[in-house]
Amino acid sequence: MTVESVQPQTSESTELRDAPLAGGAVPGLGHGLKLVRDPLAFMSRLRDHGDVVRLKLGPKTVYAVTTPELTGALALSPDFKIDGPLWESLEGLLGKEGVATANGPRHRRQRRTIQPAFRLDAIPGYGPVMEEEAHALTERWRPGETVDCTSESFRVAVRIAARCLLRGEYMDERAERLSVDLATVFRGMYRRMVIPLGPLYRLPFPANREFNRALADLHLLVDEIVAERRASGQKPDDLLTALLEAKDDNGDPIGEQEIHDQVVAILTPGSETVASTIMWLLQVLAEHPEHAEKVRTEVESVTGGRPVGFEHVRSLRHTNNVVVEAMRLRPAVWILTRRAVTDTALGGYRIPAGADIVYSPYAIQRDARSYDHHLDFDPDRWLPERSKDVPKYAMSPFSVGNRKCPSDHFSMTQLSLITAAISARYRFEQVGGSNDTTRVGITLRPHNLLLRPMPW
Ligand code: HEM
Repeated sequence: MTVESVQPQTSESTELRDAPLAGGAVPGLGHGLKLVRDPLAFMSRLRDHGDVVRLKLGPKTVYAVTTPELTGALALSPDFKIDGPLWESLEGLLGKEGVATANGPRHRRQRRTIQPAFRLDAIPGYGPVMEEEAHALTERWRPGETVDCTSESFRVAVRIAARCLLRGEYMDERAERLSVDLATVFRGMYRRMVIPLGPLYRLPFPANREFNRALADLHLLVDEIVAERRASGQKPDDLLTALLEAKDDNGDPIGEQEIHDQVVAILTPGSETVASTIMWLLQVLAEHPEHAEKVRTEVESVTGGRPVGFEHVRSLRHTNNVVVEAMRLRPAVWILTRRAVTDTALGGYRIPAGADIVYSPYAIQRDARSYDHHLDFDPDRWLPERSKDVPKYAMSPFSVGNRKCPSDHFSMTQLSLITAAISARYRFEQVGGSNDTTRVGITLRPHNLLLRPMPW
């Protein structure tokens, strides 16, 4: 199916229908309780009710899009912008002037500023740092000793993002601070989104105090990074320099607040998403020793037994497919929202101006209508002869359109390199006390993954 054939119909269309109400609404509460109790199962069942369905969340109506085609149409249509409860909470806490929450001309200008740092031809420049960090991870681990996968995954994700894009000597202490802050902030933000108790979050309860402290430290950390770069007087060719030198549409330097918010807007999605994906990759390697073994054999045959490097990544076909399949079943970004800027339509259903629209990459990527044996972990489904059967937009973990993640190449390269480096050296076993069930927050990750690396 082509993009054109799924373009949303215009509001002039005469045959627009109202989207059906999803089943199971409870009087007064609507679907809210179900969504809060088990959001993944709830979102995954919605397609049974229609391609576009209405959800009642208290007094509010939200539209859910359930087919791959329509998620593509939504992401590509100018009738929808970034807004809605998810983004409002992000803006309130992380800043209003960063690229992830901006719209219109500011967003276009900001994308122009950051894009060069993520272009395909910029990635080889990051190769040495990615290699160093991937191998440092395996050096730190001791055979047979328990690895706390949450902190280790955050650590490597933050270090790679900070060292490549902000070119600082960001030591473990800072990566540790950032990962603890982000974990607390993201947990608190998720709670504030799904249980909006407004003023109660301002009371001095321990959880609120912890949240406020983490948020303040996150902003302080970013101020430290910017101040250090300025004090150094250096202008390396990196994303931070691009942000510090950026001009607005009048050719004037952008303000301090925008610089700050931009660094936040890049560091926060950059660490949480990659860290969550690394946790799932470690979980997959432990759960599927046959694929861990296959990755190890592939790495050995491609490298000839030398340490795996950036130049090998393209040849690591099975390793890359393991990464993609892990991202299919456990997408870090499991829910996305938009807001209609005008009366419009999706799939023949009327969408009024101002309506919030939601969809779940998790539900889309696990749908039996798009994938055979949809819940099986099967990296070979990404071999070219099989992947051609996957419907368009049924696997878009980085989204599409003007809000597409700028970091798709940057992320895929480091994820494959890390998977290759750790698999070349170790196989993994879960240890007592490990809990690899899915923790739903702003991203998806295992609750508390504890693994024991064992030499091959
Ligand atoms: C946006 C996924 C890694 C920076 C997005 C979006 C998705 C996504 C789905 C689009 C959101 C939407 O459509 O509303 C992921 C995944 C990652 C990843 C799955 C890794 C596994 C990163 C990294 C960085 C980053 C490493 C930066 C270092 C951003 C930014 C945006 C974004 C700045 C906002 C773009 C805009 O609104 O124009 N990401 N991301 N992401 N991502 Fe990523």
